[in-house]
Amino acid sequence: MTSTWAIILAAGKGIRTGLSTPKQFLPFRGRPLYWHSALALSRCVDGMVFVFNEEFCERERERIGTLAFLDNLAIPLRVTSGGSRRQDSCRNGIGEIPANCGKVLVHDGARPFLCPSLAIRVRDALGPSSPCVVPAIPPTDTVKQTCEGNPRLVERTLVRERLMACQTPQGFMADILKNMPMDLDVTDEATLAEKMGYPVTLVEGDGDNIKITSGRDLKLLVQGENLIPCSGFGYDVHKFGGERDFILGGIRIPTSLTIAAHSDGDVLLHALMDALLGMASLGDIGRHFPDDDPQYEGASSAMLLDHVMDLLVSANTIVTHVDLTVVAQKPKLAPFADQITRNVAGLLNLDKARVNFKATTEEKLGFTGECRGIKAYALVTGQMLLPSS
Ligand code: CTP
Ligand code: MG
Repeated sequence: MTSTWAIILAAGKGIRTGLSTPKQFLPFRGRPLYWHSALALSRCVDGMVFVFNEEFCERERERIGTLAFLDNLAIPLRVTSGGSRRQDSCRNGIGEIPANCGKVLVHDGARPFLCPSLAIRVRDALGPSSPCVVPAIPPTDTVKQTCEGNPRLVERTLVRERLMACQTPQGFMADILKNMPMDLDVTDEATLAEKMGYPVTLVEGDGDNIKITSGRDLKLLVQGENLIPCSGFGYDVHKFGGERDFILGGIRIPTSLTIAAHSDGDVLLHALMDALLGMASLGDIGRHFPDDDPQYEGASSAMLLDHVMDLLVSANTIVTHVDLTVVAQKPKLAPFADQITRNVAGLLNLDKARVNFKATTEEKLGFTGECRGIKAYALVTGQMLLPSS
């Protein structure tokens, strides 16, 4: 007897949502988004492979264990790391399916509204004469093809009656996937089957089975959710004159001034981390990274921030905006504002428009005015999913 397995692709970065958290991890109905796909697919497969970006594999492996227990999901669940392109992630997923697997359903982890009946329709339509099955719906808009190199000029109008918009899960006889060519750039696996000369069969899709893609789609996740706005404030000070280089927001500032600190002395990222932890009601950086712990001696604040972002995901909290202020008499920071903004946005995986950086002096007053040190304030806003009471 051959078995059917599902591969849930969840290794993307979710850039188009403009959020700090990759969309597959967003909290939705008390679970991470990708888990909803698993719940629907679990009704029609014998096992499942989750593909995550390598940095999230350990965290999610643990979480999947808990969720499977909570939701009584008693089939084999495997986790593997993804690749830079979608088909690389799929290929890694295939590597985890057992040898007796005959049919594979490949699904986007960002399609949480999948209903089991659609997955069953795809699975049952698969067979030797239909080795690749794709759910699809007719487009409602007229679709025009544009000229190569000029997306504003129409080359021709496609005949709408012959067009179909394709969804996932896409079903494959396992051998096809195992032999997929890797040199083509595609946006779904069925294109690879098509290029290999296999017939691709369509079954009726579902208009509700949308892929969360843009910021606008996020509204669908918020409806009926217990999401509340939240904010966090952070403040930090460092003395000048120590051994550390002058690093601010992860950027090395060329100056003769040095910083005294246990970690790398990035006052701005420290204030930011405190604000993020505050927003998620998780205490402060001292609690998570004690400054008498030798492992944090000279620690990179960017790495600590990465860990804080993981904690935020576990606390069902997402960042939407960050406002940062540095107070220093010297050096002049305005020339670095753009670089710092970009770097912080990158560290938070936020669009640059959602990060604001400013610097000010204290008019030669106090310890910053006397050039004895530097301070930073951070204000972050976001959303937190509260457990339903
Ligand atoms: N995906 C993946 N590995 C990749 C790229 C994408 O597993 N290298 C997954 C995504 O996690 C998602 C699905 O493929 O579940 C559909 O891709 P898409 O909507 O493009 O997601 P992202 O690539 O994450 O989003 P964006 O393109 O906006 O960055
Ligand atoms: Mg993508």
